[in-house]
Amino acid sequence: MLSETVLTESFLPAWPYRGEAMHCWDRQTYASKYWHPVAARSDLHPGEVMEVSILDQQLLITWPAGEQPRAFRNRCPHRGVAFRKGATETGQTCRRLVCPYHGWTFNLRGDLLAAAREAEFEQDFDRQKWGLQEISCRIDGPLIWIAFSDQALPLEEQLQLIHAEAGETWNAAQQQLHLRRRNLACNWKIAHENTLDDYHVAIAHPTTLHREQGPVRDYIHRFSRCNNLLETPHPSGGRFLTFGLPPWSHLLVWPDGRLAFLEFMPDKPDRCSMQLRLFATRDAMEPASADAWLRQLLTFLEEDKALVESAQQGYDEQFKPGPPHRLERRILHWQGLYRKKLESAGIINVERSQPTIAALIESTSATGSAANGCSGM
Ligand code: FES
Ligand SMILES: [Fe+2]
Repeated sequence: MLSETVLTESFLPAWPYRGEAMHCWDRQTYASKYWHPVAARSDLHPGEVMEVSILDQQLLITWPAGEQPRAFRNRCPHRGVAFRKGATETGQTCRRLVCPYHGWTFNLRGDLLAAAREAEFEQDFDRQKWGLQEISCRIDGPLIWIAFSDQALPLEEQLQLIHAEAGETWNAAQQQLHLRRRNLACNWKIAHENTLDDYHVAIAHPTTLHREQGPVRDYIHRFSRCNNLLETPHPSGGRFLTFGLPPWSHLLVWPDGRLAFLEFMPDKPDRCSMQLRLFATRDAMEPASADAWLRQLLTFLEEDKALVESAQQGYDEQFKPGPPHRLERRILHWQGLYRKKLESAGIINVERSQPTIAALIESTSATGSAANGCSGM
């Protein structure tokens, strides 16, 4: 697989980690090129609906009985009001979606069933023209995924190495045990790259992650076009797998079938949200064990927080990155993918000129944008 893989020779310079224009391009254009998990499969059931928010977009995820889950903008097509307010963590039983403003009523397939005083519209009124705005939605493994653009990378390719190396575990881990979010004072790329960094683990996490991953001499890297993998022998037997995935995600797989899915989503140029989901096969873990596992992971992630926030200050000072180490190849692999996206948008050689970047973004993000607006702009 390595032969298909392009590894760049140096780290990205500081400018993609800074500034409002790059931040907006990441949220609008880069994000639209990939699928995003929005809910655990175990949190939504047939006949239910849940509200989710991702990149400031409000969505409804519905599961019509006997069909597959579907995703819609949480906006009534009449005057743009949301059907429900705020995100919920689990599905709610629902037969009809009724708009709180003028009462238009939809089924879970997004079809308009009825509008109040339907015979009195100014023009002929055709219910079929006024369904909810749908976006792509799929189940894969323990997660429900959406894509904002039909130009997004096929989900099979986005998850290729997981399917190839851990497909059985991925599909068996049905139960989400915990969902936690934390804010980090750094650009999302710094946090993402830190989690792709196999050079720092023995130094920065000697009593936490390093104990799970074992001796550095046993580390094995694998690459597909869009994914990378660190494989280490787990102290209790079997393989401990750490996948790096676009756009900003990671999957940790324990030999006993536990999974941790980790994302770093952009909030501001120098702020991101870490989201951690823990999964196990149904009824496979006592709550106390699941809580202990969560605490252990949050401890090692807390060790990273100080490091990534310090690195952000370096990038803010126009720091020039040094030489990559062999154990940082997963960072170079992801940066190669990201560089290609920048190049195809025509912004790789732009130095720190934010107005120029903004103009290029304006001219290249007309199609397939994830977010209509960009917070902080
Ligand atoms: S905005 Fe929903 S019915 Fe008018
Ligand atoms: Fe770390």
